[in-house]
Amino acid sequence: MKTLITNGTLVTDIEVFPADVLIDGGKIAAIGSLMEESGCEVVDASGMYLLPGGVDVHTHLALPMFGTMSSDDHYTGHKAAAFGGTTTVLDFISQDSDDLAVNLAAWQQKALALAAVDYSFHMNLTHFTPHVAEQIPQLTAWGIPSVKMFTAYNGRLRLQDGEIFQVMRICREYGILPMLHAENGDVIEVLVREALAAGHTAPIWHARTRPAWAAAESSWRGIALAAMAESPLYLVHMNSVGEVEQLRLAREKGLPVFGETCPPYLFFTEEELLRQDGAKWVCSPPLRTHKDQEALWQGLEDGVLQTIGTDHCPFFFNGAQPILYEGEWISIPGKELGVGDFTKIPNGLPGVGDRMPILWSFGVQTGRLTPQQFVALTSTNPAKLFGMYPQKGSLLPGTDADLVIWDPSKELVYGASVAQHRTDTNLYEGWQLRGFPHQVYLRGQLIVDQGRWKGRRGMGSFIARSPFTADVHLTPHHII
Ligand code: URP
Ligand code: ZN
Ligand code: ZN
Repeated sequence: MKTLITNGTLVTDIEVFPADVLIDGGKIAAIGSLMEESGCEVVDASGMYLLPGGVDVHTHLALPMFGTMSSDDHYTGHKAAAFGGTTTVLDFISQDSDDLAVNLAAWQQKALALAAVDYSFHMNLTHFTPHVAEQIPQLTAWGIPSVKMFTAYNGRLRLQDGEIFQVMRICREYGILPMLHAENGDVIEVLVREALAAGHTAPIWHARTRPAWAAAESSWRGIALAAMAESPLYLVHMNSVGEVEQLRLAREKGLPVFGETCPPYLFFTEEELLRQDGAKWVCSPPLRTHKDQEALWQGLEDGVLQTIGTDHCPFFFNGAQPILYEGEWISIPGKELGVGDFTKIPNGLPGVGDRMPILWSFGVQTGRLTPQQFVALTSTNPAKLFGMYPQKGSLLPGTDADLVIWDPSKELVYGASVAQHRTDTNLYEGWQLRGFPHQVYLRGQLIVDQGRWKGRRGMGSFIARSPFTADVHLTPHHII
């Protein structure tokens, strides 16, 4: 069955123009001023934008943490993504075994029957041995050419600098993009110990024990390690003015370093952790200050940062209180695990479905971002950096028909009951939005129709990604 979308306004990362789009066999067949064909379903998109489906390269679905799990799995999280206009999601594989194939198989097993949008993975590297080093080149053949490493979470996830350097050298050889969670694990360890000894147990101490200087220091450390290894680097969840300064400097020096931020860092500050429901706002790295927000916005506007992901890692605020999800009562232990001890609050925030509607209303509608920048940051640039372009992140003839018909005049009051995350909270509860997905297509199949779910478990496909190449051309600015 062919679908002809007429009278839309197509937005790419560089231009906006009136267009009809013909979808055939799950692919974009033609773009332009098109004639209706017999047997073709016609969708009138007058007054609407046509956007490439969103690409979120940072989620943690069904992630075990502190004796519980992030509350969205590879179905519920994908469904929430789709409602917000995102049709491709990249999740992080835990390194539970030093046999990386075993870890990949475990995540494939989690996702296969559940996936409702297209997906791929990154490999977390949290334990480095010669045996692990030997297997890293395989990631390219497996179609997951990216690894995440941590300079924090001492004794749990952190690698030592020499280990990070060695991984980066392998990455350079095999077209693998190293990603870095940049915080200073040693400083955090000292500050946490002192805070607990002084009887400070409230959620705000999560932020107070993870200073912004430590993020700036370890970002630059990561940049220097990558420079010495002659490898590219992708800094995840950037959150502070110092980090933006380091990234700007690195890019001015011509280094292939890229940066991602996430919406909560643009809209909230650590003050939220002082609220009665402060635990709800605990994530790592923590929320910062208004100054940090401003630097991040500036970095997005002038192209120092290339992507906006979500770091979607939701937990119930009150896991003892069930919620109704698809007709079933469900409760999953969550933030209450940290009552009386901030170090036991599961770290993470929901966001995979919020990203595009929130950024449209408070980025595009407010004039901070153009529609093209919105597309570049949420879809095209992440697809390019992670080896999926033009199959994903574009609307071009021959590519996957992952398409959002976006209604820029749709107004609604947002919150947990609109967002489809499987959790009891939403960070943007009560926010007035203008602009929302009208319809969402995944490879030509209508999966969200005016707020109604048309997708199903198992319809998402694994995307085997291409290696990272140094000539990746990003918009709007490109320094490499
Ligand atoms: O608090 C967060 N972001 N949890 C997820 C793990 C991570 O480091 O991204
Ligand atoms: Zn992280
Ligand atoms: Zn994360």
